[in-house]
Amino acid sequence: MTKIALVTGANKGIGFETAKQLAQHNIKVLLGARNETEGKKAEEVLRGLLLDVTYIKLDISDSADIEKVKSYIESEYAALDILVNNAAVFLDSAWFGNNTETVSLQTLRDTFDINYFGTVELTQALLPAIKKSAAGRIVNISSVSGSFGVHQDETHWLHALKPYAYSASKTALNQFTVFLAHALRETNIKVNAANPGWVKTSIGSDQAPLTPEGGAKTGVALALLDENGPSGTFSEAGETLPW
Ligand SMILES: NC(=O)c1ccc[n+]([C@@H]2O[C@H](COP(=O)([O-])OP(=O)(O)OC[C@H]3O[C@@H](n4cnc5c(N)ncnc54)[C@H](OP(=O)(O)O)[C@@H]3O)[C@@H](O)[C@H]2O)c1
Repeated sequence: MTKIALVTGANKGIGFETAKQLAQHNIKVLLGARNETEGKKAEEVLRGLLLDVTYIKLDISDSADIEKVKSYIESEYAALDILVNNAAVFLDSAWFGNNTETVSLQTLRDTFDINYFGTVELTQALLPAIKKSAAGRIVNISSVSGSFGVHQDETHWLHALKPYAYSASKTALNQFTVFLAHALRETNIKVNAANPGWVKTSIGSDQAPLTPEGGAKTGVALALLDENGPSGTFSEAGETLPW
């Protein structure tokens, strides 16, 4: 039976490439995007490659959108096999430096609304459909900037980069990954966090060394884990990262 996947924030960047690569594995992909024009454009490009992709309007910070997507998936499909929580924003003023003393509560709230609360609300809403899958996979696209281990390591290249709102939202997402994996430990569902690497996108900037195609690989591999694969992990290209 054809597997069904939902990728959030899939109109561009790593999410678009994730949708493309999953569809290339003959998976039916629901391409989530908050902007209809951009979502439909992405759908058209992937359909032009003969891939089975359907645009779905989804702003993950909008509860009404989440409700509609939940109803749509439950009415159209027997189960949801793969959820890739990719959508996120970077709202801090800069990557460099440490803005912990000054970042506004508004920036913190706006960042958490999408990167954390939206992701948690969507995942909880879709869990009944994922539980109907024979092998559900939830992949949270996180970031090493949310890693305590990295920020405690003065030799790590990211040590000097401390945008607080974005990083804290990814730390919270990592906690969600660990707790959800534990909650679902008696099921066939695996929940893992991925660091894509530093990727050339709106969030990663033009300076980044990786292409979106390369950046999508860790998340795609975790989405395709077989029954022997791990759950409750944080990794990049098969290498475990410190929480
Ligand atoms: N690039 C990197 O170096 C890097 C490194 C570590 C982790 N990551 C993570 O990788 C993931 C993808 O980011 P990216 O680098 O590909 O950046 P990107 O090109 O800016 O893509 C972000 C995507 O998320 C979408 N999005 C934002 N808010 C949303 C919302 N409320 N509802 C639905 N979609 C929303 C954006 O839609 P719009 O086009 O409408 O804004 C866009 O499609 C993120 O989780 C990011 O934190 C990236």
